Amino acid sequence: MHNNDGMANISSSRPSNALKAVLPVAGLGTRFLPATKALPKEMLPVVDKPAIQYVVEEAVAAGLRDILMVTGRNKAPLENHFDRVPIVENLLLQKGDFARLDAVNHASNLADIHYVRQGNPLGLGHAVLRAWQHVGQAPFAVLLGDDIIGEGEGLLPHMLEQQATRGASIIALMEVDPEHVPMYGIAAVEPTSENDVVRVTGLVEKPSKEAAPSNLAIIGRYVLQPEIFPILEHTAPGRGNEIQLTDALQVLAADEKIAGGVYGVVFRGKRFDTGDRLDYLKAVVQIASGREDLGPDFTKWLTSFVKTLG
Ligand code: UTP
Repeated sequence: MHNNDGMANISSSRPSNALKAVLPVAGLGTRFLPATKALPKEMLPVVDKPAIQYVVEEAVAAGLRDILMVTGRNKAPLENHFDRVPIVENLLLQKGDFARLDAVNHASNLADIHYVRQGNPLGLGHAVLRAWQHVGQAPFAVLLGDDIIGEGEGLLPHMLEQQATRGASIIALMEVDPEHVPMYGIAAVEPTSENDVVRVTGLVEKPSKEAAPSNLAIIGRYVLQPEIFPILEHTAPGRGNEIQLTDALQVLAADEKIAGGVYGVVFRGKRFDTGDRLDYLKAVVQIASGREDLGPDFTKWLTSFVKTLG
């Protein structure tokens, strides 16, 4: 493991009591081929930032500055993106282009980022298990590197709060169209006294529409108890021959005595799976429309373009 050793990072690498964040980014991105043949899907630009930067910014906004990325082969551009780039910085400085210089430096100074290689992409559960050494015996957050949650939605802070008060593992759930349940991990739930918080009684990875216990799908944010690690260590490959995080969570959900059980925060805000081509396009359009600099011109064009579609 190593970190970005830039001078500006020194203050951010001081130990803090905040939870660590784990960002699995070692997947092969087959849904986005051939774009992802040589470029990690997490580096696909959403307007003018790679998808992964939105995810790191979300973690930092929630107070999580110690970030471990679980990477793999072909993922070097991710490390380069969060590192200093003196040749570009000097050029922008000479030109007096301070706005771009700030944007470039922002990515390098965002967080204290560490890297571990997954080796073989054997599944999300396997990627999370690779974080054990770095995380140790404390609760930790997992943010999928291709899942963007709308800025200011407050999902992660709410999950961290729930984890702290309940001493349980917390997952993020979203209602999906029943037709789409075979694409997700789906939760069986029962209500709690809080409106948007449910107790998770069971989980199933990508069930058929008929076998699904609900239409509440797991999305890419988790705050987990460290007890998940020894469970993952003994989790056999499941669906798709991958070691599934959902299968290990199912063990935690089945017995509240192990580590407080599993609760779900039901999220109703904006979320984009940028590893999916259609969702990626929606992310670009929505985020560009909301931008102060590009939004007015872009939406003007978009409105007239939509009219031409009839
Ligand atoms: P996905 O299933 O979306 O990633 O995993 P994938 O396998 O790259 O996707 P497709 O289906 O081939 O397009 C969710 C997250 O888990 C990471 C991915 O990088 C993504 O952020 N992941 C998945 C790993 O880090 N390692 C794995 O072995 C699998």
